[in-house]
Amino acid sequence: MNDMNDDISTAVSPGKFILLGEHAVVYGKPAVALAIDMSFSCSVSAGEYNSLNGVPIDLSRHPHIQCILSRLNVNNINITTWSDIPSGSGLGSSAALSSSLDAAIRNLTKKDMDLVEIARDSFEAEYYAQGRASPLDTSTCTFGKGVAINVKETDTHLWDAEKEDGRWSISKTKVPEMTFVIGYTGIKASTGPLVEKVRKYKEHNRFASDVIDEIEMVTMQGIDDMRNDDVVSLGKNMTANHKLLSILGVSCNELNKLVNAAERHSYGAKLTGSGGGGCMIALTDRPEIVCEDIRLHGGIPYTVKTGVDGVTII
Ligand code: MEV
Repeated sequence: MNDMNDDISTAVSPGKFILLGEHAVVYGKPAVALAIDMSFSCSVSAGEYNSLNGVPIDLSRHPHIQCILSRLNVNNINITTWSDIPSGSGLGSSAALSSSLDAAIRNLTKKDMDLVEIARDSFEAEYYAQGRASPLDTSTCTFGKGVAINVKETDTHLWDAEKEDGRWSISKTKVPEMTFVIGYTGIKASTGPLVEKVRKYKEHNRFASDVIDEIEMVTMQGIDDMRNDDVVSLGKNMTANHKLLSILGVSCNELNKLVNAAERHSYGAKLTGSGGGGCMIALTDRPEIVCEDIRLHGGIPYTVKTGVDGVTII
């Protein structure tokens, strides 16, 4: 608090979708995510107590914010947020909240603006809020563009993270021009319980570990496909990844319906994020028809732009 002045500081972070490898990445397996042109913005200024959008905040109900304030040793702060990322949709709203809040406070209090530190704080917030997490979502919302985890021979190594369940080497990865359509089921799903569901399944059933190993295989094949600009094979690996996630028990009828509908005019389709509702993605060169297919099957379609920047002070 002491270092704050009368200024307002604002930061914006992009949303993201996971192209390949969600859930398995929690256990240190490889994964890739792309930042998208949906965003979460956070403004902060010094206040008399902690408030969120003009109302006193009960931090116990906002674990991401609680963790960021505690890591940055800040109190009595006004936080204003706005976002076009649907919350609980698997598109990174909580990761983008954490990274934009962390960056805005660092800027306001003249702390180090190192992106690795912002990614680390945001990962800790996500881990605390979910009970278990990988650094994939928070690193993608912080660094933008394409982020790969535990993939050798990626372009630039960014940082490393470690927890009892996994070790993660986080890198930037080049992603070829591709068109994606997102289909939102309209069902909000909390990541924490889905991550916990997979953990229990894995703990009690050897078969779940085999499925996670298969997710690792299709993810690595998909990464090779991107390197070779082979969208046909990448699409097949995305669809295979969806089937494996369904076997893990994190899909639902609504997601399966949208994936099946989108597949007809796509190279491949899969759920993205934690599942249980939220969103699916389709890789296609016929976005209008896929949007229509998604709409006809009860989903809300978005054609998104990838390759966008990470957290930025505005
Ligand atoms: C959620 O967007 C992605 C998961 O793999 C959880 C995580 O990586 O923290 C399900």
